[in-house]
Amino acid sequence: MLKPLRKAVLPVAGLGTRFLPATKAMPKEMLPVVDKPLIQYAVDEARAAGIEQFCMVTGRGKTALIDHFDIAFELEATLAERGKREALALLREEAMPPGSISTVRQQVPLGLGHAIWCARTFIGDDPFAILLPDDLVLGEVPCTAQLAQVYNETGGNVVAVSQVPREQTNRYGILKVGAVDGVRVEVTGLVEKPAPEEAPSDLSIIGRYVLLPEVVAHLSQMERGAGNEVQLTDAMAKMIGHAPFHGLKFQGRRFDCGDKVGFLEAQIAFSLARPDLAPQVREFLKNYVNS
Ligand code: UTP
Repeated sequence: MLKPLRKAVLPVAGLGTRFLPATKAMPKEMLPVVDKPLIQYAVDEARAAGIEQFCMVTGRGKTALIDHFDIAFELEATLAERGKREALALLREEAMPPGSISTVRQQVPLGLGHAIWCARTFIGDDPFAILLPDDLVLGEVPCTAQLAQVYNETGGNVVAVSQVPREQTNRYGILKVGAVDGVRVEVTGLVEKPAPEEAPSDLSIIGRYVLLPEVVAHLSQMERGAGNEVQLTDAMAKMIGHAPFHGLKFQGRRFDCGDKVGFLEAQIAFSLARPDLAPQVREFLKNYVNS
């Protein structure tokens, strides 16, 4: 019988060098898009896909991320005292069930694959989702829920994919594609950051995955790949042929919030998607564009 998807790993141990100095004392994943930090979008998206247990892979200087999911007693008491009912309701709505978030520490950022391996005890023998919080997806059905649906149908590994310009394949994990069935493509190979002339396609993996626990055994070999890092893509590639492996051309728009331009674009797109903000934002944007 297919094991249900209930776990998610959130790797947040990166250095966030592209956002210095903002990320000097604050984790990148606490950067807000409109009024919510990136990490909260990831957790909300995963919960909407039925995920109940979370493991954050953290590093030095990441305590704000852990505090964010704690109950802020003093703040709540002050809000209650001042009759700030809306703000209080908002905090309570976002509260996590006790014990649903655990953390492990990646002492040295040796790569995404190494970060996932650090969560091996949490993963155990269960399938799990990975969400990289700096990738945001705006769409009607949350991206992880779309992946979960494919997992429920195939019982195998699933990664969210999107097309990238050929000249940018050296920034991403790229798919070698087999049979195509609508938005679902069979993965026959995976290469991390290939040069454009060597890339097997222009379909790149974005920061959303559903993986079988077997990936941990491959990660345990600690083989170094592109950039001398332990690459998740390389460990995933070793599962091809042993279990179903699909790429999903997900519905929605992805924003790379680890990149300055992607982050700014996300602010615009997410504020325009908010009925309370859209009219004003549209108005001031018009002024900037026309001036
Ligand atoms: P990035 O490639 O965006 O790296 O990592 P980064 O350090 O966060 O940011 P820059 O490039 O220096 O600006 C992708 C994801 O993998 C996690 C990051 O936290 C991010 O969610 N990661 C990466 C780790 O958890 N550990 C690592 O060793 C590397």
